[in-house]
Formats: sequence, C-alpha cells, structure tokens
Amino acid sequence: MEPMGELRRTHDCYSITEESLESEVTLMGWVHRRRDHGGLIFVDLRDRAGITQVVFAPEVNKEAHEKAHSLRSEYVIAVRGKVRRRPEGMENPKIKTGMVEVACEELRILNTSKTPPFPLDEEKDVSENVRLKYRYIDLRRPVMLENLRLRHNVCQAMRTFLSQKGFFEIETPMLTRSTPEGARDYLVPSRVNPGKFYALPQSPQLYKQILMIAGMEKYFQIVRCFRDEDLRADRQPEFTQLDMEMSFVKEDDIIELIESLMAFIFKQTLNVDVSIPFKRLTYKEAMERFGTDRPDMRFGLELVDITDIAARCGLKVFNAVASSGGVVKAINAKEMADLSRKDLDVLTEFAQSLGAKGLAWVKIKEDGSWQSPIAKFFKDEEQRAIMERLDAAPGDILFFGADQKATVFKVLGELRIELAKRRGLIPEDRFDFVWITEFPLLEFDEDEGRFKALHHPFTAPMKEDIELLDSDPGSVRSRAYDLVLNGIEIGGGSIRIHQQGVQKKVFKVLNIPDEEAEEKFGFLLEALTYGAPPHGGIAFGLDRLVMLMAGRDTIRDVIAFPKTQKAQCLMARAPAEVSMAQLAELYLRPDWKKAE
Ligand code: AMO
Ligand code: AMP
Repeated sequence: MEPMGELRRTHDCYSITEESLESEVTLMGWVHRRRDHGGLIFVDLRDRAGITQVVFAPEVNKEAHEKAHSLRSEYVIAVRGKVRRRPEGMENPKIKTGMVEVACEELRILNTSKTPPFPLDEEKDVSENVRLKYRYIDLRRPVMLENLRLRHNVCQAMRTFLSQKGFFEIETPMLTRSTPEGARDYLVPSRVNPGKFYALPQSPQLYKQILMIAGMEKYFQIVRCFRDEDLRADRQPEFTQLDMEMSFVKEDDIIELIESLMAFIFKQTLNVDVSIPFKRLTYKEAMERFGTDRPDMRFGLELVDITDIAARCGLKVFNAVASSGGVVKAINAKEMADLSRKDLDVLTEFAQSLGAKGLAWVKIKEDGSWQSPIAKFFKDEEQRAIMERLDAAPGDILFFGADQKATVFKVLGELRIELAKRRGLIPEDRFDFVWITEFPLLEFDEDEGRFKALHHPFTAPMKEDIELLDSDPGSVRSRAYDLVLNGIEIGGGSIRIHQQGVQKKVFKVLNIPDEEAEEKFGFLLEALTYGAPPHGGIAFGLDRLVMLMAGRDTIRDVIAFPKTQKAQCLMARAPAEVSMAQLAELYLRPDWKKAE
C-alpha cells in the first residue's frame, strides 16, 4: 500500500469525456473490473460519480503496467494519466465516459481488499442477509448508491420548499415519554432516575402541537420515529418522517401546500410532472369502490354493489347475507373469462385465506348468457340487471363476494390487486396520488370492547358530527386525511382539537379516565388552556416515498442501514447483550432476560 503523496484528485469518474481529451487527470476510486490482456490491462475505475476506463500499457508507463497485474476487485487506487480517445470499435456509447479512456502514467495502490462476498460488477441475486451484513459493500453498488442519492435529493427539495414557505426546522427530543400513535414503545431506562424509563418517540406528535401553542406557526422536521411493531416490506422499527404542523389552517390549506410540495419534489429530483390537484375520495367512497382506504388508482376493477339484486335472487347465501345487514359486491374482470378452472380454484383459495366463505364467479359467453355454477339461481331479468350495473360484456368474468362489509371489502379489495397483477394491468411508470378524507374518528375494538382513536386522540371531529359523539360515536367523521401513492399510504395527518372541552369529550368517548389522560398527556392538555391556536399537520413516511420514487419493493433498499424482519442490524449485530454491571447500573434485574 502506498500513500497518496503529492497526488490530488482532479476529476471524478463521471466527468471524463471528450472535452477532457489530451488533458492530464488524476482519478481515485475502486477497481470495479479488471481485464488482463497480457499486453494491455484494462481497469474500470469506479467512484461515487461513475466509471472511467483506465488502460495500462507498457509503452505508456512500464512500472504502472507491471503493478497493474496485482490489482484485484475493490482495490482502492489513484491513477494519473492522459485522457485519450478509445480505439475504434472499443467505444461504449451506453455510458457517458464511454468514448474515452485514461492512459495510466502513474498508479498508486492506496489499499487492497479481500475478495468481496458478492460481485459488484454484475446484477446477481444476492441473499439480502449477506447484503445487510456487508452493507458497506452493498451500498457501493451503483443502484444502491442511486437510491441514497435520490433520498438525499428528496430531503434537499423538502427543505428548500418548506424553508421558502416560511417553515422552521425544529428538533424535538428522542428521549421522551410515550406518544399516542398506538404501536408498542421502545423504552430506555434512566440511570439517574431509578425505575423510570424514557420512551423513544413514535412520532413528534405532542411536541409539534406544543410548538404551535408556542407560536412557531409553521414547523417541519425530517425525523426518526420508533415503533415496536411487526415488520413488513414497508415497515421498519425506526423509520423517518417528514413531519409538519401549521397554525391557523384548515384541511384545504394543508392539502394544497402538500400538493405543491410533492410537485416540487418530483420535478426537482425525477424531472417528473405530477398533475395537481390530486384526486380526493372520502373514506367511505374508497372502501365502497376499492375495498381499502389506500386504493391503488392506477387501474380499474372497481367493486360494485349489487346487494339489492342479490336480495331477490334465488341463491340462498346471497339472500341470507342481504337480509342480515351484509353486502354483496362484485368485480367485473374485463376480458378475463379465459381464466381456467385451475386459476379459479387458486383464486377461490386466495379469497378463502382472507376470510371469504367462497368466491362465486360468472363467465359471460359470446351470446351474453352466463356460464357459472350459480347461473340457475338468477332469473333473466336479474342477470340483465347485474350485467348492466357491472357494464359486463362477452369475454368478461364477474366475481362476487357476499358477507359482512369488512370481509367483502378485504376479500374483493385484495382480489382486485391480485387480478391486476396477474394480468399486468398496473402501469409501472405512473405516480397516482389520492387523498382519503373524512375518516371515522373512532373504531370499535372488539377485543377490548371499547372505541379507540383511528388516528390519535387529538384528531378533531368534523363540526357537523360533534353532536353524534354522545349518541352514535361510531359514525362520527374526523378531520383526518391520508395521502396514498400507488396503493401505499405515504402520509397522514389531521386538524387537531384545540379546545379543551372537545378534547375532554373525546377522551370520555375513548374511555380514557381523567387521571389517565392527565398522566399521559397532561402537559399537552394544560398547554391547550394557554391560548392554543387552531392548528393541524401531517407526516410523511420518507422511506416509503423514496421507495416508490426509486421503483423499489421494500423500504430497506432506500435506508442505509435497515433492520431485518426480526428487527436486527446484521452488520453492527444489534441488539446485543450487555454486561451485568450495565444492567445493575440501570436498576434492571438481569435474571429477567432469561425468564420468559
Ligand atoms: P402516522 O402514524 O400515519 O401519523 O405516520 C405517518 C406516516 O409514516 C409512515 N410510517 C412508517 N413508515 C415506515 N415504517 C413504519 N413502521 C411506519 N409507520 C408509519 C407512513 C405513515 O403514513 N403523528 C402522526 C401524523 C400527524 O397526525 O400529523 C403520525 O405519525 O407512511
Ligand atoms: P354453494 O352454494 O356453497 O355451493 O356456493 C355456490 C358458489 O358461491 C360457489 O362458487 C362458492 O364459492 C360461492 N360462494 C359461497 N359463499 C359465498 C360468499 N359468501 N360469497 C361469495 N361467493 C360465495
């Protein structure tokens, strides 16, 4: 290994082009690929910016050529030489530096490398666990580097935009107390307060509301949040939010601001024009038409209600459901009547795994008649009515779900996506935003036998529904909104309660006793009595947004050091055991961890 000596990097490996012909340059980077042709040695030199071909020829510099024999993948080198045109036929028009090469006059090996656990110069399926263990090598791969570059650019765009709009970036504590997002907390024992614990924030919710009461008016923060919940492709135990709050605003102020923010981010980073305003659906409409509150709007296959027709047909399951408060809904899978018996069995099992009792189907034949095990239960007139409502034509297949609402929504909502995937109906290059509004304020928790806040307990009810808080709490709508992109919830927020009276009423419906409210959120409740302005806000999952922008399937690909499904960091090997002495210092009983 050699020192850099007097060598100074003059260029990166992206900016060497025909404009640099004949100039002397010094590059530093990693050996991406080496091809030893005996007489000539070629190295693709890679740095963060790109790749430049370096050629070692004995007639240019004998010593450098000699040394280049020992180069291996991922060695770190410095190269000084002249830029020259590649010989005819050797150009690579696919990359920006593809017309030129650097003829090496001086080579320094700054560091060697063990053979990497997976190759970086080819797209190969590498197990994710290996990638996570050697994350520093995985991140060297150009695709990963691009993901982090995009993430950086997105954050910069957010800061630029919000700063221009008068927002302050303000930090809030990581060592705090439990926040009300409803997941399990990560706790941190306090050494100086024996037996007491901090909770890592699930979000800065309480602090940002306090900041509004403190007169900050417009706040944002790109902030880490911690939630101890079951992990999935779009969930991490620590993730990042773009968190925002504003005073003296209504829903439309926030919605319009966010639409311009998104348009700005997409234009700045991807040069994509997203069309604003975004679509809006009420929660009710989203559920009725798509079976979910995060609909993917890139394709059709909507759910259509046929409960009234099903009520009068001859099929008992349908009648029974219709007369017992359930619903019968159908999807017209256009031009999919060619699905085989086996396909239909698989789809039926899929529906059953989601809780359906069955999955009735009808194929529309050339003459418009029905091919279906349930055809005989429908009179001509009923068949016609269903076809008309579903806009059915020969070659289509209709799927039916009959059950309580929640089950039908879930089953047909998932079936819709499954059918679209099977038929490749989901356009890849589209960004389809939709706002979901008018969420229910509360949801009934069957297990606990009480209402819970769907969002969090500070979400304001819609004015016209406040009276229902006493009589029919389940039907109260809230002033909450979510932003959904391509079927993934990327953000959510609400107008908050800023009057103590309403807040007390909501706690009462939630069955949170005064003492408990006092204990948990006392500081916010007290602050609300000192001149709280009307306020509201929203938070975005930065990881999810960047994942969608980068066209990836998991947020792990856009997080530098993510955790596995089991919430472990395979590289740093966290979580880890700690010494008895450390436990004792924190007043934790060491035998607990073995108990279980
Ligand atoms: P909410 O809980 O909806 O709202 O979170 C906001 C957004 O954060 C993202 N998100 C996650 N991303 C990755 N991993 C997770 N475990 C995870 N959990 C949530 C989602 C979600 O839309 N304080 C409120 C916001 C407000 O009311 O202003 C809040 O945290 O994209
Ligand atoms: P059965 O009368 O149980 O033989 O069902 C006739 C058809 O209706 C079969 O294709 C079942 O899969 C379907 N089916 C049964 N129950 C339901 C339901 N609750 N919703 C939708 N389809 C159903």
